[in-house]
Amino acid sequence: MEPRKRLLVTGAGGFIGHHLVRRLKADGHWVRGVDLKHPEYEASAADEFEILDLRGWSNCLIAARGEIDEVYSLAADMGGIGYITAFRADIARNNILINAQMLEASRKNGVKRFLFSSSACVYAQSKQKHQDVTPLREEDAVPADPEPGYGWEKLFAEELCRYYWRDYKFETRIVRFHNVYGPLGTYDGGKEKAPAAICRKVALATNGDEIEVWGDGYQTRSFIYIDDCVGGLLRIMACDYHDALNLGTDELVTINQLVGFVCEVAGKRLTIRHRLDAPQGVRGRNSDNSRLRQILGWEPTITLRAGVEQTYPWIAEELGRAGRISPARRQRVATA
Ligand SMILES: NC(=O)c1ccc[n+]([C@@H]2O[C@H](COP(=O)([O-])OP(=O)(O)OC[C@H]3O[C@@H](n4cnc5c(N)ncnc54)[C@H](O)[C@@H]3O)[C@@H](O)[C@H]2O)c1
Repeated sequence: MEPRKRLLVTGAGGFIGHHLVRRLKADGHWVRGVDLKHPEYEASAADEFEILDLRGWSNCLIAARGEIDEVYSLAADMGGIGYITAFRADIARNNILINAQMLEASRKNGVKRFLFSSSACVYAQSKQKHQDVTPLREEDAVPADPEPGYGWEKLFAEELCRYYWRDYKFETRIVRFHNVYGPLGTYDGGKEKAPAAICRKVALATNGDEIEVWGDGYQTRSFIYIDDCVGGLLRIMACDYHDALNLGTDELVTINQLVGFVCEVAGKRLTIRHRLDAPQGVRGRNSDNSRLRQILGWEPTITLRAGVEQTYPWIAEELGRAGRISPARRQRVATA
C-alpha cells in the first residue's frame, strides 16, 4: 500500500477539488483543503480546511506550510463559456496571482510535487474551427492562439511550471482538463458548464416544453466524468512526466446530442430553441489521448451516457430540494 502522504488541495471548495479530497481521504492520506469558500453541497472530507484568498502571497505561504508532500493546484477563477467570455481581465489577473504565487510558495516550503490544473482552452482556436475537429494533441497548443483571458493565463502558467522544472528541478505536473462534469458541480448562477446547464433546463421543463440552447447545437465537445477525472489526476501526479497531458475522453458529441442524452435519461420529450447570439466558444474540440495512453497505460472509460445517468438525477434532486420543481415533476416521465 502507498505510504500515507501530507497533501494540499487548493480549490478544495470547488467541484473537482471536493471530489479529489474525498478520494485522497479514502486512500488514507492526510489532506489540507484551501479555498475562498466551503464546498457548496456537502462538508469537506479534509483533515484541515482553511479559508484563504490565494491571490495574496502570505496566504499562499500559509497554505503550503508544514511539510506538504504534494500540492494539487485547482484553485482558479473560472466558469462556463458565458462567464469566461464576460470577465477576461478579472479571470486573467486573479489566476496569474494564484498560480505564480502558489508555485513559488510550494517550492519555498519544500513541497515535493506540484500539479497544475490547466485546460483545453489553451489550444489554438485556429485548430478548432470545425465541428468534426481533429482531436487535439498536446503539441497543438503552440503556436499560441488560445481562448482570450482564461486560456492565455493557463498557457503561461503551464510554461511557468516548465521553467520551475528546468531551473529549480521543482517537480511539476500539468493536466489539461476537457469539460469535467458530474454530481456536486455548479449547475446554476452563471458559472455552470454545458452539461450541468442542460441538465438543469431539462429538469425544470415539463414534457413537451421548449428549452433554450446556446448556439446552433452543432458545436462539438468531449466530456469527462468526475470519477475518471479524479482517477486520472492521481495517476498523473504519480507519473514521471513533466509536460502537459490531456485529461478528457475522445467521445465527441454535438451539444444537440448531449441534450438528447439528458432528455433520454430524464424521460422527457422537449424541443430546442437555439440562441444564436449567445457565446459558444470554439466550434469543435476533442481530446487526443495517445500520449496519455503512452505515459499512463490508462485513459478515461466512463461514457457520456453513463455519466449523465449519475449527474441528471443529482441536479433534479437539488432543484427539488430548493423548491424549484415539485416532487411529482421529478418523477421520470415515460417517453411517449
Ligand atoms: N471543470 C472543468 O471542466 C475544467 C476544465 C478545464 C480546467 N479546469 C480547471 O480545473 C480546476 C478546478 O476546476 P473546477 O471545475 O473544480 O472549478 P470550481 O470553480 O468548482 O473550483 C475552483 C475553486 O477555486 C476557488 N478559488 C477561486 N479563486 C480563489 C482564490 N483567490 N483563493 C482561493 N481559492 C479560490 C473557488 O472558490 C472554487 O471553489 C481549475 O483550475 C479550472 O480552471 C476545470
